[in-house]
Amino acid sequence: MTVKHGRVDLTRGRGAGARPYNRPMLVLGIESSCDETGVALYEGGAGGGRLLAHALHSQVAMHAAYGGVVPELASRDHIRRVLPLTRHVLTASAKALADLDGVAYTQGPGLAGALLVGASVANGLAYALGIPAVGIHHLEGHLLSPLLAEPAPRFPFVALLVSGGHTQLLAVEGVGRYQLLGESLDDAAGEAFDKTAMLLGLPYPGGAELSRLAETGDPLRFRLPRPMLGSGDLDFSFSGLKTAVLTLVRKHARAGEAVPPELRADIARAFQEAVVDVLAAKSLAALTISGRRRLVVAGGVGANKQLRERLRAECARRGVELFFPPLELCTDNGAMIALAGALRMGAGTRDYAFSIRPRWPLGELLTPR
Ligand code: KG4
Ligand code: ZN
Repeated sequence: MTVKHGRVDLTRGRGAGARPYNRPMLVLGIESSCDETGVALYEGGAGGGRLLAHALHSQVAMHAAYGGVVPELASRDHIRRVLPLTRHVLTASAKALADLDGVAYTQGPGLAGALLVGASVANGLAYALGIPAVGIHHLEGHLLSPLLAEPAPRFPFVALLVSGGHTQLLAVEGVGRYQLLGESLDDAAGEAFDKTAMLLGLPYPGGAELSRLAETGDPLRFRLPRPMLGSGDLDFSFSGLKTAVLTLVRKHARAGEAVPPELRADIARAFQEAVVDVLAAKSLAALTISGRRRLVVAGGVGANKQLRERLRAECARRGVELFFPPLELCTDNGAMIALAGALRMGAGTRDYAFSIRPRWPLGELLTPR
């Protein structure tokens, strides 16, 4: 579904009178692809930018009773939250709607109804203010989110993108210049965390919970396979790990009974050790293959403590620069969408349309190998 409200000339600024973008550009970002409503204000400019404010409402408590995200409830909750959060970030930054130069929103991929809320609000605001609304690929938001770190990485870098739905290694040359180096052939790392958490009887959302539990587990009690570690390429496979966990559970826990807490922690640890080993080894191989000396990690699994510690140690040993987004910006948020919007506008993106793309492979943004 696409309703164009015309091409917007970025050199003209808002409706009344021309306003060239040779000064800081204020962008409102709206993320509503799944179960968090994120809103942020980012001020971009020629000499770099800064995040002025960001606010998030997580729907986790609302969906917990159902053991996962209920799309219709998610959409309705986004409707309730998005305008109060917008007011909040404007007030916190002492800015008014009239100060905005653009509104960025997550265009996809994600839940159709949830995406529509962000798209509608962004386009409504933009239309009323006579400024552009920029649709952002959710994964591009994650990919660029390490630029919100202090200090921020310079281009080019290798990115390990580890979210709930994607595990990819990319060579990033600049905004919109991304080459895929490798990716998961089945489950994403985050998905494997979530499914394994479910097998262990942990509450939704499982990934973070499983990693907390893993900290108390014995790393030597079980050893799980390291899928595709020696495959000679930069692809991943995590679905077999989940099956290996299931086999362990069946072997050590009585049928029909909950997995005992100590066993749960040891299995969680074994699982996390295996995932971290593979993610770290392939990230380092990607640096070698691409000849880059800078690694950034983005997406929800980037919040994983063990992954952070391992990569820190390995990168320090090799003299490789390592960057993560601030911890609270690893999972979904509006800041990464505002940032990507400002960078896209700054890079001259000019074709603005009101549309959502619930299914949108990152492949469409990649430059050929
Ligand atoms: O990037 P994200 O917020 O959403 C997507 O775009 O998919 O990532 C969510 C994923 C979930 O699979 C969640 O289990 C995982 O990130 N995650 C973690 C941790 N925190 C979130 N996985 C491992 N360790 C964590 N601490
Ligand atoms: Zn995400």
